[in-house]
Amino acid sequence: MGFEPSGSRPVILDSDPGVDDALAIMLALGSPELEVLGICTVSGNVPLDTGTGNALKVLALLGRNEIPVYPGAGGPIRKEAVYATEVHGPEGLGDSALPMPCRSTSGDAVSFIVETLRARPGEVTLIAVGPLTNLALAEARAPGVLKKAREVCAMGGAVDEPGNVTPVAEFNFFADPDAARRVVRSGAKITLAPLDVTHRVALEGSQLARMPATHAGRFVKEAVRPAMELAMRLQAGPRFFLHDPLAVGLAIDPSFFRIETVFADVETEGDLTAGQVVADRRAFRADGDRTGLPVRCALDVDAGRFMALFLSRVFSEAV
Ligand code: BDR
Ligand code: CA
Repeated sequence: MGFEPSGSRPVILDSDPGVDDALAIMLALGSPELEVLGICTVSGNVPLDTGTGNALKVLALLGRNEIPVYPGAGGPIRKEAVYATEVHGPEGLGDSALPMPCRSTSGDAVSFIVETLRARPGEVTLIAVGPLTNLALAEARAPGVLKKAREVCAMGGAVDEPGNVTPVAEFNFFADPDAARRVVRSGAKITLAPLDVTHRVALEGSQLARMPATHAGRFVKEAVRPAMELAMRLQAGPRFFLHDPLAVGLAIDPSFFRIETVFADVETEGDLTAGQVVADRRAFRADGDRTGLPVRCALDVDAGRFMALFLSRVFSEAV
């Protein structure tokens, strides 16, 4: 896939804000390669209403209140909701205290996804950085609709890397494994940013200390601080992984990544295995005889080049 001129790639960002989701929104809106048609929200890091409010707050911070926000699924397809408030804070944006803007949301996320993909087949990239519930519900309502996306760039799963919620599962796939399976099985052109790459790119404590004295800089510092303190208590060092911005990075410029096509499926059952990506790499199998569908997986990343882009885009404006 080539690099395209400014503003030429329409995207829908589906998210569960969430601190790194907020950073993904900031990166997407700061990137001239992307035209953000709307932000969809889903239950994930925090309950749906909290995450929707957070999307509105971040857009107001950026002075981008014209971007529509579409609330979606209030919980996973089959299991009880799980949240990640121990990482993102009870309100989802760490210690930040952004004001709630006086504006309302637009229609519902699933209708927006279905209608947009139908209206512009082959044009729109879906960037999904939360549990895949909205995408799976769109596919259930309009079978085949995800194949109309130009690409689905999703943060989720772990291929050769351990999980972050269970020994084998990453949060977004664990939170709604049925949705992850349906999306992987949809036949859409999917590119994953799994933990294999997102665990390689982190904001360090020293970078946080040097945040610019702008509204954006202060927000990032306050939002990230509690998660970084948690990482230190867990003896992982002062760092905050840029999980969700990496999925935006896939849509901006895939040349940051080494991408491999892997036959993969998602386990939906099991105390130990729900949400696990099962990759069929058996040497003695022909591709036509493998378990799962071909999924493009980013398995390595030029972390330095990506971080330079991230910092320049997120802090480029006098916000
Ligand atoms: C994913 O889980 C969430 O907590 C983050 O926002 C990210 O989307 C990382 O596993
Ligand atoms: Ca997320």
